Amino acid sequence: MAGRVDALYFFLLALSVFFSVLIAGLIVYYAVKYHRKRPDAVGAAVHGGMILELTWTIVPFLITMVIFVWGASVYFAMARPPDETINIYVVGKQWMWKFQHLDGQREINELHVPVGRDVKLITTSEDVIHDLFVPAFRMKADVIPGRYVSIWFRATKPGRYHLFCAEYCGTRHSGMIGEVIVMDPAEYQTWLGGGAQEGSLASAGEKLFQDLACNTCHRPDAQGRGPVLQGLFGKTVQLQSGETMTVDEAYVRESIINPSAKVAAGFQPIMPTFQGLVTEEQLLELIEYVKSLKALPQTETR
Ligand code: CUA
Repeated sequence: MAGRVDALYFFLLALSVFFSVLIAGLIVYYAVKYHRKRPDAVGAAVHGGMILELTWTIVPFLITMVIFVWGASVYFAMARPPDETINIYVVGKQWMWKFQHLDGQREINELHVPVGRDVKLITTSEDVIHDLFVPAFRMKADVIPGRYVSIWFRATKPGRYHLFCAEYCGTRHSGMIGEVIVMDPAEYQTWLGGGAQEGSLASAGEKLFQDLACNTCHRPDAQGRGPVLQGLFGKTVQLQSGETMTVDEAYVRESIINPSAKVAAGFQPIMPTFQGLVTEEQLLELIEYVKSLKALPQTETR
C-alpha cells in the first residue's frame, strides 16, 4: 500500500507547491507591475469578469474531484481486507501491545508475520483509545475499547519495522512501541511451531466455554435455553425486535457482555452478563471458539 499512499501524498504536495509558488509569484509580479507611480494615482474600478469567475471555480472543482476519487480508491483498498488473510488479534492496553495468533502464540510488543502474505489485524483495547501505527506499511488505525477494528497489510520485504502507539493514552504513551518482524515463510512456520504448546485460541475458548458453563444453555442439540452456536458465525439471524443481524465478532462480543441488548428471536433474555468476568483476551478466545463451531449436519440452525 505504501507506493499508492506515497503517490497520492506527493501529488498533493506537488499541487500545493505549484499553486503556492504561482500565487506568491503573481502577488510579487503584480505588486511591482502596478505599483503607484504618482502620489495622486487612483486605480481603475473593476466590475467582475464572468470568464475569470468560471475559471477559478471550475478548475479547482475538477482538481478536488481528482483528489477525492483518487483518495477514496486508496482508502477503500486500505479499509477492505482481502478474503483470504492470516488473522491476528491485537489488544491495546496501557501501555503495551498484545498480539494473539490463532494457533495460540502470544506476543507482547512484537509481531511476527510471514513476507508476501495478507495479514488482517483485528484490534481492540482493554482501556482507552490507542492507535496502531506502522509507518513503513503506511498503516494506522485507532484501537477502540468495546469495538473491533480490522486493518490489513502485506509485508513485501523481510526485516524489522517500528510499531508505535499514535494516540496519546497516558503517562507511558511514548513507551508503547514495538516491532513487526517480517520473516521468510519457512522461518515463520518454524517460529509458529515454537510456541504451540498452549493450544489454539479456539481450544482455549472451548475450555473457557465449559468453565463458565456456557455449554449448559448453548447446547448443540437445540434443546438448550440458548441458541445453538454451531455454524452460527457469519450467518444472518432474526432478533426479537424484528431486526436482522449478521453474526460477526462485534455481535458475539456484545452478546457475552450485554446479552439482553440483541436477543435472538424465539429466546428469553435470561442470559446473565459476563461483563467484568472475562478479559478482552478471553473474549477473543470465546469468539474464535464460536467461529470454529461448524454446523452439525443433523441440526437445523437458523
Ligand atoms: Cu497507547 Cu498511546
